[in-house]
Amino acid sequence: MCGIFGYVGTRSDAPQMVLAGLKKLEYRGYDSWGIASRENGQRPAALAVEKHIGKIGQAETVLIDSTLAIGHTRWATHGGVTDANAHPHLDCEERLAVIHNGIVENHESLRHGLKARGHTFRSETDTEVIAHLVEDELTVVPEGSEQLVQALMAVFRRLDGLSAIGVLDTRTRCIAAAKNGSPLVLGWGNGENFLASDSSALLEHTRRLTFLEDGQAALVLDDTIKLYDAATGEPLLDPKVWDITWADEVADLEGHPDFMSKEIHEQPRVLRKLAEQCAPDAVALARMIAHASNVHFVGCGSASHAGKVGEYLFSRIAGKQVSFAVGSEFGYLEHFIDPKSLVVGLSQSGETIDLLDSMKAAQRRGAKLAALVNVEGSSLYRLVDHPVLLGAGPERCVLATKSFTAKLAVLLMAAHAMHGRVEHGRELVERAADEIQAFLTDGRAEMMRTLAEKIVDREHLYVIGRGPSYPMALEAALKIKEVSYMHAEGFAGGELKHGVIALIDEGTPCIVLAPNDDSFHAIISGAQEIKARGGFIVGISPRQSDVWDLHIPVADVGEGAELVNAVPPQVLAYHLARLRGLDPDKPRNLAKSVTVK
Ligand code: F6R
Repeated sequence: MCGIFGYVGTRSDAPQMVLAGLKKLEYRGYDSWGIASRENGQRPAALAVEKHIGKIGQAETVLIDSTLAIGHTRWATHGGVTDANAHPHLDCEERLAVIHNGIVENHESLRHGLKARGHTFRSETDTEVIAHLVEDELTVVPEGSEQLVQALMAVFRRLDGLSAIGVLDTRTRCIAAAKNGSPLVLGWGNGENFLASDSSALLEHTRRLTFLEDGQAALVLDDTIKLYDAATGEPLLDPKVWDITWADEVADLEGHPDFMSKEIHEQPRVLRKLAEQCAPDAVALARMIAHASNVHFVGCGSASHAGKVGEYLFSRIAGKQVSFAVGSEFGYLEHFIDPKSLVVGLSQSGETIDLLDSMKAAQRRGAKLAALVNVEGSSLYRLVDHPVLLGAGPERCVLATKSFTAKLAVLLMAAHAMHGRVEHGRELVERAADEIQAFLTDGRAEMMRTLAEKIVDREHLYVIGRGPSYPMALEAALKIKEVSYMHAEGFAGGELKHGVIALIDEGTPCIVLAPNDDSFHAIISGAQEIKARGGFIVGISPRQSDVWDLHIPVADVGEGAELVNAVPPQVLAYHLARLRGLDPDKPRNLAKSVTVK
């Protein structure tokens, strides 16, 4: 959560560059934003600070010329959404500008001590204590080129909680950074260097990146970057520099009104690419799964739903038991993990803290680790023994769409690879890609818009499915509620009569996922029971049924059904949001990458 971008170099438009970088990172948080830069030529050096509430994507602003700047787009934790609480935060003397992602858990006692020593606070944030603590520390650390980073490390050692911090110093003309938990990436340029929360914002400037590990600090100067062990303050020599091959951000909406629409339509291309290129990875993953005595899929949100679909696919296709847990719960269940276990993390960003904690806990117990991950070089990518890249390209909409179906495609191919049938898995993914493309272009997507118009004022919506369609129902409901704010719930079709059916009344929309598989007849019975109580039944199915009040026909692609069935609810969610006047790319209260507990 929270986007970070910093620049030290010779370009005089550093603040504009930071603004552009933050716009790319807006999905990390969009409550408010701010940029601080060193005013060129001022004696003594002064800071120019611009802070605003609202979304940075819409910001048009005139910024001063400067060669040193840092900025932040915020997802609020401590302190409301106000200009004063927006980052950067300054010390009393206004020499330093601090941006921060994470939580300083002991901020209250630190603030108390700082106030007693005469510091004046301008915000309610936990972050501001860092600015004042570094200010104090600078009075005791000897002057010199490393003064700022040594002061920051001394402060960092006193902070409880997980944080990524950047501090701009107007006097020594540099940025110091330190991290524990939340991600920070350093970009190596020529006579200029960068700092960001995500690699995606740096790729247009440089592909030579160093990922700061937990407990490390960095000093970013215009001619070099130095790394340190934050616990000892000692320099770390020869930092690893990655040459990232990941596709650069396509800023262009390619004719779409927003990224959600664009990314939904990218799915056929992403799936075809996976079918073409990912078979060796799927085979390697299948081999790891086959050799492990117990296997666990872990993910959060949409990624957790993909993991749960995987649990069914491996059981049905490969006869292999795989257990599943959401990232935030795995830590309470991991006591049986041992060196023969395999834990597979699923994540678009590769930075979700609950997932990373789960993976690290499993690693401490000696388990092997694998991942399905979209962002090359992310923390998850670097942590595991076998990362499978989803290759979906940057996902800018806060909602997971193409990264979700990409995970399903890899799982489907890996499940078939368990019995040497990866080719069949590939064919299923290709057939699904063709059907999704047809669905999006042959008028059926318009049916979802018509449905959205019909139900847009309803308060509740339910989705049911059985077998792998059960987690697909959970995913469909999540898409609808997070983007349109309509209350939607997914249920296992068989569970309705155990209580849920009490929720149904006249006209309640209920989406039924009914692939042509062994769940078909039972899910139709569930739909009948809902219809008998007044429910309005929308069937997403290759098969006709009298129970459908509205039939959304989809082709029968066999075991690729989950790939196909993911898309109509995405399109419905999109139109519900649009009809309700909402921005589908940035739903309220959310951030794309959840790096705080
Ligand atoms: C839903 C959504 C979230 C993410 C979840 C995990 O549309 O985007 O539920 O799926 O926060 O994020 P990653 O996949 O980055 O670990």
